[in-house]
Amino acid sequence: MANAWFETVAEAQRRAKRRLPKGVYGALVAGSEKGLTVDDNLRAFDELGFAPHTAGLSNSRQMATTVMGQDVSMPVLISPTGVQAVHPDGEVAVARAAAARGLAMGLSSFASKPVEEVVAANPRTFFQMYWVGTREEMLARMDRAERAGAVGMIATLDWSFAYGRDWGSPFIPAKIDFEAARRYAPQVLLRPRWLAAFARTGRIPDLTVPNMVATPGEQAPTFFGAYGAWMQSPMPSWEDVAWLREQWDGPFMLKGVMRVDDAHRAVDAGVTAISVSNHGGNNLDSTPASIRALPAVAEAVGDQVEVLLDGGIRRGSDVAKALALGAKAVMIGRAYLWGLAANGQAGVENVLDLLRDGLGSALTGLARESTADLQRDDVVVPPGFERRLGVDEPDAPVETVVGRRRLA
Ligand SMILES: Cc1cc2nc3c(=O)[nH]c(=O)nc-3n(C[C@H](O)[C@H](O)[C@H](O)COP(=O)(O)O)c2cc1C
Repeated sequence: MANAWFETVAEAQRRAKRRLPKGVYGALVAGSEKGLTVDDNLRAFDELGFAPHTAGLSNSRQMATTVMGQDVSMPVLISPTGVQAVHPDGEVAVARAAAARGLAMGLSSFASKPVEEVVAANPRTFFQMYWVGTREEMLARMDRAERAGAVGMIATLDWSFAYGRDWGSPFIPAKIDFEAARRYAPQVLLRPRWLAAFARTGRIPDLTVPNMVATPGEQAPTFFGAYGAWMQSPMPSWEDVAWLREQWDGPFMLKGVMRVDDAHRAVDAGVTAISVSNHGGNNLDSTPASIRALPAVAEAVGDQVEVLLDGGIRRGSDVAKALALGAKAVMIGRAYLWGLAANGQAGVENVLDLLRDGLGSALTGLARESTADLQRDDVVVPPGFERRLGVDEPDAPVETVVGRRRLA
């Protein structure tokens, strides 16, 4: 049998492409409109260089840190992804892999596995919520996550229901019925290993979202049913963000902050952490890469809240670049999804090990003992790289920024 281990995330992606039905692979590639943001998330990391030392390097590679009150073995978290049907063990396999590597797990409310099972696999689980339904319904979902033992909350609000991709959107059935089976059959038959993995479990992916109901085991809505409810929910205000934060007695992250003014508002709402993120390029196309927006946000609020980054992390050196530009930690999305598709739990562990090794090499080359020592001057930042969003004078240092308007 071929060696299941892969040497880069790019190879995991190639294997995922070979293994997954076209529609499932397409749902992971995602992106929106012209794909400008999803591309920029990757390109921006390529534009950043390193300034390595020749001698005086260190053998020490300290990476352990804390994020949202949790001790983690390196500054990398699993970002929540609402993806169905990648692997029969789904988010439970991801949670096990993260636990095996001493890392925390973000679980999407659109995930395919119940929060109770995921917390059992990894007690360091943060539950992610969208603003869907009434306040009572959201409270019920939060209560359930708390009862299950989730140790933190992630609120994701950066979603504008953009659709229409120049390369075409995958067909995703609302549920697996005759019509879906007929449309999916040609793709699935070309991917026998994927089918066999599900066949061994005795069930096909049912495409429901079990964490959108208040009680475990209650009839869960389909992915599209929940998506429809989300579209019909009134968009949240900053007061709603503060309300949501108050309802959760523990660490709370607002994910999807790109602007300095919004970062200040998030601080005012009482959050513990923010993630500088554009939803992996899946939201409003033409939003710049999150790494371009990170330095200004980290300078502005990095001493008040934990500033994380997600979007475009594919290797350990990307993690080093983000830390050097002010992130306390990063979150990964597609990188672990490719690993999961390629080789289940072991594939996710493989990805995490690659990130750890790459981050370690960066520390060695930059003569830093610890990830906490990484500095901006370890990185070559080309002129014009940054995007200082939500700053009255984009070229001014962040300290001089005025204009923290309060929005209702
Ligand atoms: C297929 C897919 C599904 C996602 N679903 C969610 C979700 O349910 N909740 C959420 O907060 N973010 C979701 N995200 C965004 C990720 O949490 C993360 O922000 C993004 O993937 C980071 O970019 P990267 O994939 O380049 O690492 C999703 C991303 C992808 C690719």
